Amino acid sequence: MTSTQPTTPTLDPTRAGAVVHAGSDAAGQWWRDAVIYQVYPRSFADGNGDGIGDIPGVTSKLDHLATLGVDAVWLSPFYRSPQKDAGYDVADYRDVDPLFGTLADFDEMLAGAHARDMRVVVDLVPNHTSDQHVWFAAALAAAPRSPERARYVFRDGRGPAGDEPPNNWQSIFGGPAWTRLAPRDDDGPLGPQWYLHLFDSSQPDLDWTHPEVRAEFEEVLRFWLDRGVDGFRVDVAHGLIKAEGLPDWDGHVEMVAGSSEGGAPASFEKDVEPGAPEDGSTGAGNAGPMFDQDGVHDVYRAWHQVLAEYDGDRCLVAEAWVEPLSRLARYVRPDEMHQAFNFSFLTTGWDAPALRTVVAASYRANDEVGAPTTWVLSNHDVVRHPSRLGAADPSVRPNGIFATDPQPDEELGLRRARAATLLMLGMPGSAYLYQGEELGLPEHTSLPAEVRQDPAFFRTEGAEAGRDGCRVPLPWSAAAPGYGFGATAETWLPQPESFARYAADAQYGVEGSTFETYRAALATRRAEGLGHGGLAWLDAWASSPDVVAYRNRGVAVIANLGTEPVVLPAGAEVLLASGPVLSDRSAVPQARVPADTTVWLRA
Ligand code: NOJ
Ligand code: CA
Repeated sequence: MTSTQPTTPTLDPTRAGAVVHAGSDAAGQWWRDAVIYQVYPRSFADGNGDGIGDIPGVTSKLDHLATLGVDAVWLSPFYRSPQKDAGYDVADYRDVDPLFGTLADFDEMLAGAHARDMRVVVDLVPNHTSDQHVWFAAALAAAPRSPERARYVFRDGRGPAGDEPPNNWQSIFGGPAWTRLAPRDDDGPLGPQWYLHLFDSSQPDLDWTHPEVRAEFEEVLRFWLDRGVDGFRVDVAHGLIKAEGLPDWDGHVEMVAGSSEGGAPASFEKDVEPGAPEDGSTGAGNAGPMFDQDGVHDVYRAWHQVLAEYDGDRCLVAEAWVEPLSRLARYVRPDEMHQAFNFSFLTTGWDAPALRTVVAASYRANDEVGAPTTWVLSNHDVVRHPSRLGAADPSVRPNGIFATDPQPDEELGLRRARAATLLMLGMPGSAYLYQGEELGLPEHTSLPAEVRQDPAFFRTEGAEAGRDGCRVPLPWSAAAPGYGFGATAETWLPQPESFARYAADAQYGVEGSTFETYRAALATRRAEGLGHGGLAWLDAWASSPDVVAYRNRGVAVIANLGTEPVVLPAGAEVLLASGPVLSDRSAVPQARVPADTTVWLRA
């Protein structure tokens, strides 16, 4: 008997539901949807064989970046510096450190990037200078309470002899945030003054209420804008202004905020409670009277005006560990900065509902001010995302990993990292990549103490490994000494043997390699206009505990964070996958997305 029953309509699993972010048909200013690659110069490529990466090294690898398909490069500091915090201690804001080359080398690199249609963003470190900066030398040479000291935060100590620090603040790298000067004859009854340093004692904080400080940094901006840079990444953008009176504060100041129960105060460690709050907060925000004071916004309004004097859409990106996202969005109001790193996203664990929450909260907050979201998964301050996601508990955020710590599962971590990256790169907005993630590099987890250089390791007296493990020189060539970092075997930090597997030349042209997956993702993202698209959750998985799935323009992105394969609609056209996609053996061929895998489908 033939059935007259109509066939049951199949629910199209790629059907889009709730719109989270409305896209636009046309791209806007370049930074709104740019993929920006972070170069950490000392570890990218070594041009002269001394074991330390440099600017000629960057120039020599521009074709790698062009092939990868990024829109811009951000360079961490290469300015004159005693390198106490790897260049985040600047002695001269207008010159290149001889370690990295010359201004002419910089100009050549900039021209090379521009010739390949890539923009260049440089780092600006306004919260503090090096103690080798002329201003600080002048402050030390001058008398207490002199104008030379007024550009920094010098104070008399507490107690009858002034020998207690002016307040109880702790350095983000551990230990007190104040250092006392050596005695001098004109000190007076309270003895030598103290100076504030939120970071290392070699990084004195500037006083941003001082007009000369403001004027100087506007000139520094102009110096680099005149040379042709396309933007600035602003270090500790939430720290410039401190609360009036520098009140005591009993919380901990941390780079990646969170508890470090009973441990050293400077911790990147954070146990995220399952189920993020509705606003997407993960504990990544720095609190306290030294952060996110309203006065910082005046500084960025002034800088916005400086950039606006120049052609070509120059931009400012905030490194501001601020939560909730609605508070972070204040840095990217229309007359302030242009982007702000989304550290709430970076610090969300491998958890589908928590990721949906943070993504939705990010668009809500940024749409309110008309700014793009700025996605990021790795940088030079955090454990590389394959190693974070390969940890037994991927919601824990350690400040570096010791050989004696439980070790991340390298294979699982890489699988998840690639899935996380495709989840990120399918979304509208801008995205930052950290050098080496396109190779799938893990954290170096067995660096011996004697090679470590991060001040956080020393200031916590070895309690925290610190950030050296994510700063290891890149492997370019599997068979060469130093894995091709430079012309010699010298590398300022030792590379693990596993780097042979990750070397760039072992991945170029190899289908399914991490490099080729990134390259394909960037090409598809560009071709499909995903950067300026919209985002709507796919109905079928809108509240799934295991799957994050959304549609952006003509692409559906399905990330499987669970343990069971996800069956795709029959005939689904897979554009891209972060790992092998299984074929079902049933009569109707259907692809299945294995655990810890993301696919991009034609929608
Ligand atoms: C944030 C930078 O990314 C980090 O590397 C540095 O140590 C601190 N700011 C201090 O400048
Ligand atoms: Ca070098």
